[in-house]
Amino acid sequence: MVIERAPLEDELGDVLEKAMRLAGCDGPALAARAGLDVARIRDAMDYRSDFTCAEASRLAAALGLNEVGLAALAGGRYPLPEITGLPFCLYPLRMPYGVGVVNAYLVADCPQSHGILFDTGADFSQLCRVWPKNIKKLDAVFITHAETEHIGGLTEVLAAFGPAPVYLPAGANRAGAINLSEGERAEFGGIEVRALHTPGHAAAHNCYSVMMHRVAGATPLLVSGDLLFAGSVGGCYFSAPLLREALRRLFADLPAATVVAPGHGPLTTIRHERSYNPFAV
Ligand SMILES: [Fe+2]
Repeated sequence: MVIERAPLEDELGDVLEKAMRLAGCDGPALAARAGLDVARIRDAMDYRSDFTCAEASRLAAALGLNEVGLAALAGGRYPLPEITGLPFCLYPLRMPYGVGVVNAYLVADCPQSHGILFDTGADFSQLCRVWPKNIKKLDAVFITHAETEHIGGLTEVLAAFGPAPVYLPAGANRAGAINLSEGERAEFGGIEVRALHTPGHAAAHNCYSVMMHRVAGATPLLVSGDLLFAGSVGGCYFSAPLLREALRRLFADLPAATVVAPGHGPLTTIRHERSYNPFAV
């Protein structure tokens, strides 16, 4: 089991920007609603925030956000959980992308030398740098959504570690790939992957629930793509109402112990994000 810590994908300014977009309001409207000077909102968007707890509470109320989580983020102390109990090896493959980091993940029945890849990152050479030397072959590749930084280098990945089937969300197209709709499953060596159709960030977006049924009581894994991050959510570029609905569903339906492996930022759990994520209300 590989555990690592990575910086949060979003700071307070990013979260406010996404929340304003979800709420359909702008800086002046938010300032009026929260009873704050608009310049304070602008500072936060420029990563120069020094909100007090009371101000963070007013912002949370004005945007319908989780107050505890927003205050923690504003104070630079968003908590992260310890990750335990997965029945398989999880390799987070963390690669630089733009000013941030993008994640792909390998899941393998340790100590096997083959596994399942979730997303590919932006670029094959970057992926190679973080690829675990013991994994020689892929059983399958699952793509959360077909954006550059999540599917880049797929052709080279298949040439190097394939042949392997490629699974895409319904609505995404690639010759030879298999589209997975809501609830559809595939199993490789006792590891089952189930698709959750979760549009919002993109029209064609899947999260993947990963289970190993032969281990009773094992912690499930959710590969959440650009829907749910530790302390934030993906940008709602396709549909804000659908993104909100997909989030509600994750928080309502998934076991609390589920480990969440997001497309950007550190690992977290459903229990933890239910308590602290600014968008979990
Ligand atoms: Fe992304």
